[in-house]
Amino acid sequence: MGFVTTKDMFAKALNEDYAVGAFNVNNMEIIQGIVEAAQQENAPLILQVSAGARKYAKPAYLLKLVEAAILDTGLDIALHLDHGEDFDICKKCVDDGFTSVMIDGSKHPFEENIRMTKEVVEYAHDKGVVVEAELGKLAGIEDAVNVSARDATFTVPEEAAEFVEKTGVDSLAVAIGTSHGAYKFKGEPRLDFDRLKEIHALIPDTPLVLHGASTVLPEFVAKCNQYGGDIPGAQGVPEEMIREASKHGVCKVNIDTDLRLAMTAEIRKYMVEHPADFDPRKYLGPARDAIRGMVAHKISNVLNASNKR
Ligand code: G3H
Ligand code: 13P
Ligand code: ZN
Repeated sequence: MGFVTTKDMFAKALNEDYAVGAFNVNNMEIIQGIVEAAQQENAPLILQVSAGARKYAKPAYLLKLVEAAILDTGLDIALHLDHGEDFDICKKCVDDGFTSVMIDGSKHPFEENIRMTKEVVEYAHDKGVVVEAELGKLAGIEDAVNVSARDATFTVPEEAAEFVEKTGVDSLAVAIGTSHGAYKFKGEPRLDFDRLKEIHALIPDTPLVLHGASTVLPEFVAKCNQYGGDIPGAQGVPEEMIREASKHGVCKVNIDTDLRLAMTAEIRKYMVEHPADFDPRKYLGPARDAIRGMVAHKISNVLNASNKR
């Protein structure tokens, strides 16, 4: 048990057409709910920390909480930096003991993205840490209606191949129509699977990563709205599309919004039903349970990663 990189996890996932869940963590209850689910499902696990999470919880707390989760469960866990914006934050996380970092140069021109990624790869690999990069910009298909607009936004397969070859990056996040948050599609959900297949065909040994992969589960949205929330029209990536993506090279599926919704729905319900209570354990406990249930469902029914540890 301990901190592990994603190398073996991805090799097995790529080979067997399933995906590893990468869940964003911000506090103890979120971590506990996720690791309990991974333990229950005997599944590989990536916990990821964003710059916002580091700012909110402080790096030392998050690191020690994940260490505690390993001690408590005996799991192997990959600890990953999500959307590192520059070399500095990647270096800090490598030095702190993260086993994986993302350098997100997707908003920069192609050549600059290559340069930034190479710099992080050199530093991280030297310390046994793996690196994820991103090429293309996350956006819904309706925002890129024609082929040239899509090429300007989504990952261009030939560029992906050149990028991986020039940077030596370990995994690549691709843009095929997903986006972050709870409002992913204006109309029918659509992803560019032809593009994903082309990318996978050109770089079959490179694990691909799907950001913005929350399903925005209707039961949690409905519960939020029933108990005083106001999140109309929220829509995510249907579970069937995540299953399909994992058959075409997607080994890592990033989930944050579904955790937020599960947690918020339970807390809202508890607050409305128990207006006289003020013990945080009374509402954070059910919130943690909701996260466990949701993550276990995802691992077993969507990612197909149960018993793949
Ligand atoms: O990619 C975005 C993740 O959901 C992290 O969000 O930056 O608000 O922590 P955050
Ligand atoms: P969601 O907003 O769909 O959960 O995506 C999270 C993500 O991509 C984190 O990097
Ligand atoms: Zn992301």
